[in-house]
Amino acid sequence: MKGIHILATGHFAPDKIVTNDDLSKIVDTTDEWITSRTGMKKRHFCEAGDNNVTLATEAAKMALDKADIDINEIGALVVSTFSGDYLVPSAACQVQQELGLSDDIICFDLNAACSGFVFGIETMRGLLMQSEKRYGLLIGSECISRRLDMTDRGSCILFGDGAGAALIELDENRSYTSVYGCHGDLAVINCPNDANKPGRVHMEGQATYKFAVSTVPKLIKKVVEKAGIELEAIDAYVCHQANARIVDAVAKHLKQPKEKFFMNLDEYANTSAASVAIALSDAIDKGFCKPGQKVLLAGFGAGKTWGAIIVDL
Ligand code: COA
Repeated sequence: MKGIHILATGHFAPDKIVTNDDLSKIVDTTDEWITSRTGMKKRHFCEAGDNNVTLATEAAKMALDKADIDINEIGALVVSTFSGDYLVPSAACQVQQELGLSDDIICFDLNAACSGFVFGIETMRGLLMQSEKRYGLLIGSECISRRLDMTDRGSCILFGDGAGAALIELDENRSYTSVYGCHGDLAVINCPNDANKPGRVHMEGQATYKFAVSTVPKLIKKVVEKAGIELEAIDAYVCHQANARIVDAVAKHLKQPKEKFFMNLDEYANTSAASVAIALSDAIDKGFCKPGQKVLLAGFGAGKTWGAIIVDL
């Protein structure tokens, strides 16, 4: 199956840092509770002047700066997000303008919640197969802080803002395997879009936790089996950064060393569609993921949705 080459990545988060202690002044919680239950230490929140498009644009610029390409050869721009600044136009159209990309480009937003970046890779690969141009720009960007119920300690402590970007081209010499799924469920995680009042994220924590730890190991086994390889052939796992306990449980279930699983949720918390994008970019910058490696990306979240892909870096 024709693979993809991730030429360059970038990630960006707003300057404002919100620590667990900061949150303990807003809701009845403690640093000890948040750290022990989630592994999260801080998160970044947008301030005046920051928004979904500014985050997405900065992450994209960082990726483009690392790649020596003609930006007129970018034929597709997809922003995975559920927290766009406008219902229309899409964040992707605004980022196209900000980056000065050419007009003959397909631009749209994709909403698959926390599976957004993984669904985005599959979508981008399909778009590039149809495209007359060589490159695709995929961004996961979220400004979730504006969608949080800051009176609900069970959810507001979990999320942060940020964006990650990847510049992608097709590559016949790289392998590619993907598995996706969806089980429609409004109750477990939702964020209403009510014209009369701004929607806030609602999450059933325990049900979400159970969904994650039961779904993700099966998902990873399935994509590895489909690729015709063993778990041991995966050099690094970059999973959605929802909770360190979830990642640990997945590693334990798969009997894989925890050290193979990248985590940066202590710095960014859960950035939904940006989570895997930021983690991948951060993992590459830190040398955790290296060229030539086989990397498994896995996302899961509201929908409910889930997806995993194995790429050759
Ligand atoms: N600080 C202090 N106490 C808190 C708290 C907080 N921030 N949030 C909840 N609690 C309390 C609850 O009120 C409850 O108190 P009670 O026993 O007096 O009723 C107690 O802690 C246990 O709550 P529970 O929901 O069982 O905690 P938990 O161990 O399941 O941890 C989550 C809660 C949210 C951290 C955990 O369920 C989780 O990570 N779920 C998955 C989240 C996720 O992946 N979301 C993104 C999906 S894309």
